[in-house]
Amino acid sequence: MGDSEQKVDSSRRTAIGVTCAIGAVGGVAAAVPFVSTFAPSERARAAGAPVEVEIGEIQPGELKRVEWRGKPVWILRRTTEMLASLKKTDDAVADPKSVRDPNNTPEYARNEYRSIKPEYLVVVGICTHLGCSPSDRLTPGAQPSLPDDWQGGFLCPCHGSTFDLAGRVFKNKPAPDNLPVPPYKYVSDTRLIIGSDDKA
Ligand code: FES
Repeated sequence: MGDSEQKVDSSRRTAIGVTCAIGAVGGVAAAVPFVSTFAPSERARAAGAPVEVEIGEIQPGELKRVEWRGKPVWILRRTTEMLASLKKTDDAVADPKSVRDPNNTPEYARNEYRSIKPEYLVVVGICTHLGCSPSDRLTPGAQPSLPDDWQGGFLCPCHGSTFDLAGRVFKNKPAPDNLPVPPYKYVSDTRLIIGSDDKA
C-alpha cells in the first residue's frame, strides 16, 4: 500500500474535522464500579483502578468498548482475515514494530499483532495527534475518506489519521504514534484486567 494511497482529500478532511470530539468517550460501556456511591477517597481510588472485562461474548470481528481512567478502551476480537491484513499493511504503517515509544506499547505487545493473544487487540481509543477519538472502519474495501485498498482499521475524523487493525498509524499522517496499548493481563481465557499487568 503506497503512502499516496493513504492520503485523504484535504477538502474532505476539513469537512470531517467539524465532527471532531476531543477526548470523546461517548458510547463507552460501563465497566467501572459505580463510583458516585463511594466516599471521596474511595471514588478517587476506583476512578484509577484497574477494570475487569468479560471478553467471552465478543464475536469474531466485533469491537467492545469499555472505560478505564476516563478513557475509551477498545477490545477487538480479530478474525483470521483481520490478522492476515496486518501483513499487507506492514509496509504502509509508520512504526510497524512499535519501537518509537516504549511507553506507548508494553513489551509484551511489541509484536506483529500488538497484543498478548493475536486474536484480541486491546488499545486506548484516543488519537495520538490531538486526542480525538477515532471511529472504527473495520470493513475492508473502498469507502468515503479512505483509500480504495483499505484493509479495515480506524479513522480519526479530526485530521484524517488512519490506523490499521493493530492500531498502527499509517505513514505521513498527523498522528505521531500508534494507538496506545494500555497495561493489561488475562485472568482467564475470557476475562481481562485493564490497567494492571503485574503478576497475580
Ligand atoms: S486528532 Fe488530529 S488526526 Fe486525530
